[in-house]
Amino acid sequence: MFDVCDKVALITGGASGLGLSYAKELLRNGIKAVTISDIDDKAAEVALAEIENEFGHGKAIFIKTDVSSKSDFEAAFIRTVEVFKNVDILINNAGIYNDLQWEKEVDVNIRGTINGIILGLELYLKKYKQGDEAVILNTSSIAGIRPGPWMPIYGATKFAIVGMTLSWGDEFHFQRTKVRVLAICPGGTHTSLFRVEQCALHPDYMEAQKMANEKSGPANRQSSDFVAVEGVKLLKYAHNGSLWVVESGKPAYEYVFPVRDSFKNNVVKEV
Ligand SMILES: NC(=O)c1ccc[n+]([C@@H]2O[C@H](COP(=O)([O-])OP(=O)(O)OC[C@H]3O[C@@H](n4cnc5c(N)ncnc54)[C@H](O)[C@@H]3O)[C@@H](O)[C@H]2O)c1
Repeated sequence: MFDVCDKVALITGGASGLGLSYAKELLRNGIKAVTISDIDDKAAEVALAEIENEFGHGKAIFIKTDVSSKSDFEAAFIRTVEVFKNVDILINNAGIYNDLQWEKEVDVNIRGTINGIILGLELYLKKYKQGDEAVILNTSSIAGIRPGPWMPIYGATKFAIVGMTLSWGDEFHFQRTKVRVLAICPGGTHTSLFRVEQCALHPDYMEAQKMANEKSGPANRQSSDFVAVEGVKLLKYAHNGSLWVVESGKPAYEYVFPVRDSFKNNVVKEV
């Protein structure tokens, strides 16, 4: 087990939604301190006040960060180490949904996560962890393990995060760095992520979501606090390279990526 007690975490997108819930859940689990790294300074001010109110002074700092900028991200690591001396956990959580502004979506969701992994795995977690191990929790989605025809680009960014988790979560990298790399794939969760009205590439795309809902029922949204409880369990217990679904307020379950060899008889039928 990886004991989070007295450790230090950097949480991107930590000013609201899932990120803020992770911060509070880690503090409930005895973490020494968290860095809230977010682009939204107003939300961060509120988040810091809530944390101070519940957990006391000196438990959190805010660093304004655009995760798609490597220098911003690095500044967040540097400041964390300056203030708290160590960094043991990176929660790569910042993300947006807006297929209309897909270049930005790709930048934040993919480039941002890559920035975090490269800086964390190769440099800051490797060098400034205080125990034997450090851990990175990436944020994919159920949209990263099944098709979502109403949000193909958002889904693609989340599939990318599954891919990088499997590759960087390989034993080869763990032996070099002693940093575990995991991913969480939440289902629908009550946050502000999907509140923006027009984010689909075209209004017609929403018909696909309607059809999916008619087939399987509307998404049973869970609270961000519930996801955070499960996420902290993953930080403690999940094995390197593993992918975990948390949906409908039920305990996290491991999603095992299919093995290519098992499909070798699925040859094209020439009929
Ligand atoms: N809410 C859901 O249903 C759901 C489901 C699956 C996955 N997710 C993923 O969970 C993560 C957190 O989202 P959330 O639901 O808490 O939404 P949210 O909008 O409440 O939180 C996202 C946070 O990221 C910050 N952010 C946005 N762009 C940023 C940038 N460039 N740099 C730094 N911070 C930035 C925002 O200011 C915000 O505080 C995202 O990666 C999202 O894709 C959410």
